[in-house]
Amino acid sequence: MNWPKHLKARVRQREPLKKHTSFRIGGPAKFFIEPHGLSSLKFLLSILKRYNVPPLLIGSGSNLLVNDKGVDAAVLHLSSPYFRRIVFKGGFLEAGAGVMLSRVISEAKRRGLSGAEFLAGIPGTVGGALAMNAGISEVHSSQLTVHSVGDLVGKVRIMDHNGNIRILDKKQIKFGYRKSSLAKYIILSARLRLVKKNKEEIENKIKGYIFRRRSTQDLKHYSAGCVFKNPEGESAGKLIDLCGLKGRGIGRAKVSFKHANFIINTGGATARDVLRLMSLIRKRVREKFNIDLEPEIKIWQ
Ligand code: EPU
Repeated sequence: MNWPKHLKARVRQREPLKKHTSFRIGGPAKFFIEPHGLSSLKFLLSILKRYNVPPLLIGSGSNLLVNDKGVDAAVLHLSSPYFRRIVFKGGFLEAGAGVMLSRVISEAKRRGLSGAEFLAGIPGTVGGALAMNAGISEVHSSQLTVHSVGDLVGKVRIMDHNGNIRILDKKQIKFGYRKSSLAKYIILSARLRLVKKNKEEIENKIKGYIFRRRSTQDLKHYSAGCVFKNPEGESAGKLIDLCGLKGRGIGRAKVSFKHANFIINTGGATARDVLRLMSLIRKRVREKFNIDLEPEIKIWQ
């Protein structure tokens, strides 16, 4: 495949995806491409269509398991400065798909804008977080509350796979538990609605979320965060824990001692190790509780 000289993008061939996933697992991508801006992204999609190479989007790779053989696809990474812009207009924040959530939080805090604090510590990009409606659940006086990035959305700018750009209003987007109708598009940027608040209050909220994450989650090892979705009214981590699976390993993949819904890569784990461990967990939870756990992480088979 010959790439046109005037395509403004960084193209790498057979790029190991383990370099781009928080699991540090995954074989090579046929192509790994970082387009410079909108016109190069559109041009790129037309080339890929012509050569029949499917595009796959990657954000920070923090919720992703890539198979050991790699993918026969073009992995698109929106990491150029164009996709990493943040603009503030009144109570709105407009962020490119490639902006890390940590930057959204710190820039909002600097301006005394509140609403995004619950995203503190989630190692994702704006695009990835919107595609999977990232969020958290917390219990307040025995009431379970779920906060998701979809709650903050005003409008989202997307490109479809034919290169057409559209601005979608919140009403045109469906957000569910760890899913959204945006996943079928290429998310370009999002407008998030925030409210003015005292900076100290914002700072304290952020600290609280980070403290909770550090004290309950295994952040010392390579992982993809929670592996399974929480079944309705239940906690996947608790169910796996009750099956006595903490510390259970297959190959170099192991169920974390700190949080049972985390599978960690203890060094050199393969996707096969993780998938076999996931099957074992599902089997045990099914046998003991008659509940079928559904993966939360994206799997590129
Ligand atoms: N628990 C156990 N054993 C464990 C883990 C948890 O008994 O090994 C119990 C806890 O004691 C608690 C309950 O299970 O009573 C819930 O645990 P936790 O508070 O850790 O929250 P979670 O439901 O496991 C969810 C999200 C996390 C998010 C946290 C923090 C899902 C699948 N997980 O976890 O998201 O960070 O709330 O609000 O929705 C992720 O998406 O990757 C992720 C980690």
